Amino acid sequence: MRVAILTLSDSGYAGVRENKSGPAIRKLVEAAGYRVVYTALLPDGMEPLASELKRLCDGDIADLILTTGGTGFSPTDLTPEATRSVTERPAPGIAEAMRYRSLQITPRAMLSRAAAGIRKRTLIVNLPGSPKAVRECLEYALPALGHGLEILRETAHNCAR
Ligand code: MTE
Repeated sequence: MRVAILTLSDSGYAGVRENKSGPAIRKLVEAAGYRVVYTALLPDGMEPLASELKRLCDGDIADLILTTGGTGFSPTDLTPEATRSVTERPAPGIAEAMRYRSLQITPRAMLSRAAAGIRKRTLIVNLPGSPKAVRECLEYALPALGHGLEILRETAHNCAR
């Protein structure tokens, strides 16, 4: 399975802060057997994230797109809005599950507005911005995501069949 990693951070984009979350995601997904085909550091906001998501999905460049950052309450945190604007089928259970798990670690998990959904044959999942949060969310979600991606790609049968 091919993974694209998009990091949303104004300070990272400006070169003021080191991007640690993107590399943390890469380490986790590669350890789980995924192939990272694309990474990018983008400024916060609807654009260019929405365009980048459309390009990666419509060009069938990745099976899974993981975003990190921009899910909180800052006025520039618009990752969930950009994600919802391009997804055709929401997959709310993924974000709900990560929040459920994260709430057992910190009450601040309720401050992440992360979303998830499908466009064409690509699954898009928002993760919070900190490397710690990325690890906590992905370690919990990745095993189940693999099964979902196989069904989306029709390389496995639906559980009910
Ligand atoms: N989820 C986990 N698992 N661990 C965390 O430390 N931090 C929270 C939350 N989710 C956190 C977490 C905090 S403090 C915020 S503000 C929100 O994610 C939003 O983060 P973001 O704006 O960087 O996306």
